[in-house]
Amino acid sequence: MNADSSRLSFAVKTNANPMPEAERQAAFGNLGFGTLFSDHMAVIRWHADKGWHGAEIVARGPFALDPASSVLHYAQEIFEGMKAYRTEDGRTVLFRPEENARRFNESARRMAMPELPEADFLAAVEELVRIDAKWIPQGEGSLYLRPFMFASETFLGVRPSREYIFCVIASPVGPYFKGGAKAVKIWVSQNYTRAALGGTGVAKCGGNYAASLVAQAEASAQGCDQVVFLDAAEHRWVEELGGMNIFFVMEDGSLLTPPLGGTILPGVTRKSLIALARDQGLTVREERYSFDQWKADVASGRLREAFACGTAAVVAGIGTVKFADGEFAIGDGATGPVTTRMREALVGIQRGQRPDPQGWVRAVTGA
Ligand code: COI
Repeated sequence: MNADSSRLSFAVKTNANPMPEAERQAAFGNLGFGTLFSDHMAVIRWHADKGWHGAEIVARGPFALDPASSVLHYAQEIFEGMKAYRTEDGRTVLFRPEENARRFNESARRMAMPELPEADFLAAVEELVRIDAKWIPQGEGSLYLRPFMFASETFLGVRPSREYIFCVIASPVGPYFKGGAKAVKIWVSQNYTRAALGGTGVAKCGGNYAASLVAQAEASAQGCDQVVFLDAAEHRWVEELGGMNIFFVMEDGSLLTPPLGGTILPGVTRKSLIALARDQGLTVREERYSFDQWKADVASGRLREAFACGTAAVVAGIGTVKFADGEFAIGDGATGPVTTRMREALVGIQRGQRPDPQGWVRAVTGA
């Protein structure tokens, strides 16, 4: 299916019981991640005989699913993560949403699901952001958007479903990590791996996150915020965290991040930071980095900083690394200056506070 053709029109059924303004403002006072949701959702359905149809904006609410819906059995599901921001001059903007639309279809192909034309993906996101624009918090917060698609055919045979539901929900969010801007502590998983070559690591499918949960629970039990996975073949090369990519900052100021290579999620934040760093004249290498080298470089002082990045996490300094046989701090254990600069450069563009020479910011509503 061609990703650029067709443009659905959305029937809008406004929520008859929206959250009262005072209640929303009170909730905005204590934002975490993914617990509060806006009044509406965008829905589009797909059927093998009809293609994409039934696009609508409706009150956010539960789906009625048959217990034999194939997603409940074989996990045919993919998703995206993106954010809407309110700029200081009053515009509502998205950051590189075309990248999410494109990656969504890459995930769809890997999971034998129908591709949604990029124009329809973007229209669904923008319609929802427009109707729920008042759900974008002021200041540091943003409106996290979660487009997703799942197999909804009532059928227990193991083959691609003949029916799907695409949906976008919106959640006002504050910091992903409870400690806010404080450097995070990560746990190196030496027993569990996330993805093998030829598997689904490159796709943004729920199954990858399900497979990470036991390792993430181990990380939490060790007092860590996140887990970092090593490669599946040799258990040696650093790949990515449970829900974000990783960068290392060397003593010469250069950055290093593991290469995509088929097992790592191609993060939009990762890609944007590589471009921003190169624009600032920094050297960025996409090269394999072993856990042994990481330990040696921290001991010798060659490694100065490390950070995690993703849409939800933005850019989060890594202060401490814990593993079965020990623990080490990176630098003085606090977020380093290069990490802070990269975060500020990215956030500045996302929030319309800095020039956007690449045209990454897309306005949904004007000032
Ligand atoms: C994101 O950063 O948007 C993610 O999808 C990571 C996680 C919250 C699952």
